[in-house]
Amino acid sequence: MNKITVIGAGNVGATCANVIATKDLAREVVLVDIKEGLAEGKALDIWQTSAINNFNTHVIGVTNDYLKTKGSGIIVITSGLPRKPGMSRDDLIKTNAGIVKEVTEKAIKYSPDAIIIVVSNPLDVMTYCAMKAANKNPRKVFGMAGILDSGRYTTFLSEALNVSPKDIHGLLMGGHGDSMVPLRRYTSVLGIPVTELLNADELDKIIERTRKGGGELVNLMGTSAWYAPGAATAQMVEAIVDDQKRIFPLSAYLTGEYGYKNVYMGVPAKLGKDGIEEIIELSLNAREKKMLDQSAKGISEVLGVLNSLKLFK
Ligand code: LAC
Repeated sequence: MNKITVIGAGNVGATCANVIATKDLAREVVLVDIKEGLAEGKALDIWQTSAINNFNTHVIGVTNDYLKTKGSGIIVITSGLPRKPGMSRDDLIKTNAGIVKEVTEKAIKYSPDAIIIVVSNPLDVMTYCAMKAANKNPRKVFGMAGILDSGRYTTFLSEALNVSPKDIHGLLMGGHGDSMVPLRRYTSVLGIPVTELLNADELDKIIERTRKGGGELVNLMGTSAWYAPGAATAQMVEAIVDDQKRIFPLSAYLTGEYGYKNVYMGVPAKLGKDGIEEIIELSLNAREKKMLDQSAKGISEVLGVLNSLKLFK
């Protein structure tokens, strides 16, 4: 790909740009921030690893200069405040909605054909906000959360089972919040259902830790995580750039799938060069559907707050 823009040169944005560059996914990565010098500095630092890490992707940083992002194939939006201890992701809505709207509008003006990946929190509602601001086909605007959350789920399972995380597939659905829905029935180790390998109590504990996985890190560090969020976002970028048709849980706009409409929520979907090529509808039992309903309800409430801000006509 010719150019990829990453908006927000905070920890997540810079880490994402770093992984994109290290994997050589584009000729150029443009890192954008509002803070004078921050994106320029981080980009220069990343670019100076090119000879060391053996990549060609040119990384540049700009302060608010969206002209430099012109012609991007993918725009990653990480702007906004991160959580502090004691905050939920939803507490960020009022601040972050305005920021996400503004950066989306500025960026899409110069790259009208770009695919947009949103990482800002509260994730599912910020993705909706970006879709509205970009006024684009929702199959080209989606959010990163499921790869991160299932990455956390997988590492906890790996420790409990003492097997490589590479051999574990853990699927999650729902919103990127404490009511996300890790699906034990669809979690396996090389095809062996995890329910045959761990007892219900052990699995419950892992699921609970996964749901609160972001908060665990916020409590440890005083701010939210970046290595796994940045890497997870770069994995989505890679699937698009290489037209991989990989299936990831991601926040997608639903038009009746699973019984939900006009809302973004985590579901398994196929990613390729045009964005979301297919939303995969698993059969869910009554218990799973109930948990998903709960999660959807949480998203709808936050979406209600977004609507009350009247940012869109
Ligand atoms: C987390 C933030 C990025 O889950 O939402 O770590």
